Amino acid sequence: HNMGHMGGMNSMQGHMGQNKLLPVSALPTGTPLPTLPLLKNTSQQANTFEATLHARPIKVTLTPEITTEFWAYNDSIPGPSIEVFEGDTIKITVKNDLPQPTTVHWHGLPVPADQDGNPQDEIPVGGSRVYTFTLPEGCAGTYWYHPHGHETVAEQAFRGLAGTLIVRAKNDPLVHLPEQQWLFSDLKLNSDGQIADNSMMDWMNGREGQFTLLNGSHQPKITLTEATRVRLWNACSGRYLNLNFPGCDVQLVGTDGGLMEKPYALEILLLSPGERAEVIVTPIQTATAMLQSFAYDRGKMGPKVIEIPRFLAEMGLTESKAPTLPSILRPLPQLGTATASKYLEYTEEMKMGSGMKFYINGKSHDMARIDLVSNAGEVEEWTIFNNSHMDHNFHIHGTQFTVVNYELDGDKRLPDYIGHKDTVNLRPYETVRIKIRQDLKGLRMYHCHILEHETLGMMGQLNVI
Ligand code: C2O
Ligand code: CU
Ligand code: CU
Repeated sequence: HNMGHMGGMNSMQGHMGQNKLLPVSALPTGTPLPTLPLLKNTSQQANTFEATLHARPIKVTLTPEITTEFWAYNDSIPGPSIEVFEGDTIKITVKNDLPQPTTVHWHGLPVPADQDGNPQDEIPVGGSRVYTFTLPEGCAGTYWYHPHGHETVAEQAFRGLAGTLIVRAKNDPLVHLPEQQWLFSDLKLNSDGQIADNSMMDWMNGREGQFTLLNGSHQPKITLTEATRVRLWNACSGRYLNLNFPGCDVQLVGTDGGLMEKPYALEILLLSPGERAEVIVTPIQTATAMLQSFAYDRGKMGPKVIEIPRFLAEMGLTESKAPTLPSILRPLPQLGTATASKYLEYTEEMKMGSGMKFYINGKSHDMARIDLVSNAGEVEEWTIFNNSHMDHNFHIHGTQFTVVNYELDGDKRLPDYIGHKDTVNLRPYETVRIKIRQDLKGLRMYHCHILEHETLGMMGQLNVI
């Protein structure tokens, strides 16, 4: 890897310390939670979604004094929300007017490998391409899209490129509930109001900004006057969200890839970077409450990484009645017995002169190397061992998996709930076993979704044959 190509690495060489950052008080708070703008469907045909995403730099006036350059899809931070139905055919033209090549990856969806924005398939500067795929039945869920170019993902994401993608079911058991969408992202601004490069610490631990945005807004005001279905996205590069919902009853009903079989009552929802959830939030008192991310210890030893508690939004609550949820939300298709297996091990290393290195099975990502081969349609059990002092997560393209168990210091533990996942967190020295099947042939990436780690090579390539 040539670090000089990576956003922020050049300026990092000169100074180890942080640039001076804009104080958190510089951005206004308390505006009503913005709803995500919808990407307009220009198709006249039924069951077809056609639209254009135009990626380019824009200037956003954050305050009368601060105008910041972002990179955006259709001039919107976050990008416009794509809402489609199971069975739809999607045709999205992407125009690249960024200063570097890019791709668009449809995180979590079973799209053909040559339509999934692999780093091998970059759209050149000034170029465009059409992504097209048909969504299979049964894939309703909470997805998102973001760039996946070669060694540019971290920078393109922290400059603003990401958007939501919701696949709706034709028969949705929760369709009668009002819905809100909460997308969390991070923003790190220098004292001059411009987006900061990554510091050495950001490259090591994952970037964290002084601002955490909700639907692009700083500490907005959420209003909950009745039981509400809330979809949540952790679109932060490196921040772990450990969410609590004071004054509310919370039932987890969906994970990355759609509804679970049964609701699961939660007090705290941990979302590592890239993860999503669907919850039913019922205010149980009339009050003003704080939506916060609680402290979360990301490291056992060595350079400890502790997320400090963070205020995310104010919630105006009106006491309401909890809805009666169906006891079975949907039957979750079972994968059956695994007939093949894979083993992955995460490690990291501090290299003098070039900083941190992150590996899977001892290797750094190489676009020309196939790391693993699977047969299309075959159920496999993957064992992923986080042989590291810090949390990393595991994400794979092209399909959803289920967690079989976790193991830490010889103690096995079953997951608290079963749902379709494409991203799962691993504690330091933890092992996770997953059951997985890839139905479509082609090249798939798997990686840690702390985007700095992915960009620094903690990624491998699976060929499905
Ligand atoms: Cu969110 Cu490789 O992806
Ligand atoms: Cu992905
Ligand atoms: Cu990582």
